Amino acid sequence: MKRLSIFVSGNGTNLQRIAEFFKNSKEVEIVNVVCNNPKAYAIERAKNLGIPVRMVTKAEFNSPEFTKEMVDLDLDLIVLAGFLWKIPASLIQVYPHHIINIHPALLPKYGGKGFYGEHVHEAVVAAKEPFSGITIHYVDEIYDNGETILQAYVTLSEGETPDTLAAKIHKLEQAYFPVTIQQLLFWS
Ligand code: GAR
Repeated sequence: MKRLSIFVSGNGTNLQRIAEFFKNSKEVEIVNVVCNNPKAYAIERAKNLGIPVRMVTKAEFNSPEFTKEMVDLDLDLIVLAGFLWKIPASLIQVYPHHIINIHPALLPKYGGKGFYGEHVHEAVVAAKEPFSGITIHYVDEIYDNGETILQAYVTLSEGETPDTLAAKIHKLEQAYFPVTIQQLLFWS
């Protein structure tokens, strides 16, 4: 059985899609959801999906005890699905190349601290970029910096708004994130 932990901070649409994708799998288990935001709708989703939720404060998250807890879970992959805190170096060191993130733009553009969710789409539309997309990448100790696993593109239309772009990006995320996870778990 491959063991996943999914880290979330917000709505949790990616969490939902990943959980549904692996729902009938006998080879993949989402052992928990780690959440840093008590107001995140992702908590509700995890409950409805029957996945235990581990709420964390910043101090807990950065403590050696939390890293130990994650090691004890014996995970095959940690998936950041809209998780907005920097991952502690200790966790990266115990799971090298086993933590991945999804970013709603074509990194290295529109990445780094402050570039998350709708802020990314606002900046892309304001700059009149011809394209945007998603980047799935390994997590290292710098925000949005690790090696790219996959990028997928969309074209911006005439009159594109941050909201319409967000909808296009969500479709890409839904299409590519679960299959990329599956590929990493079984074929890499
Ligand atoms: C997603 O669009 C994801 O790419 C983005 O947050 C959103 C979370 O949506 N991640 C980042 O901006 C990370 N820098 P969700 O909670 O509905 O899955």
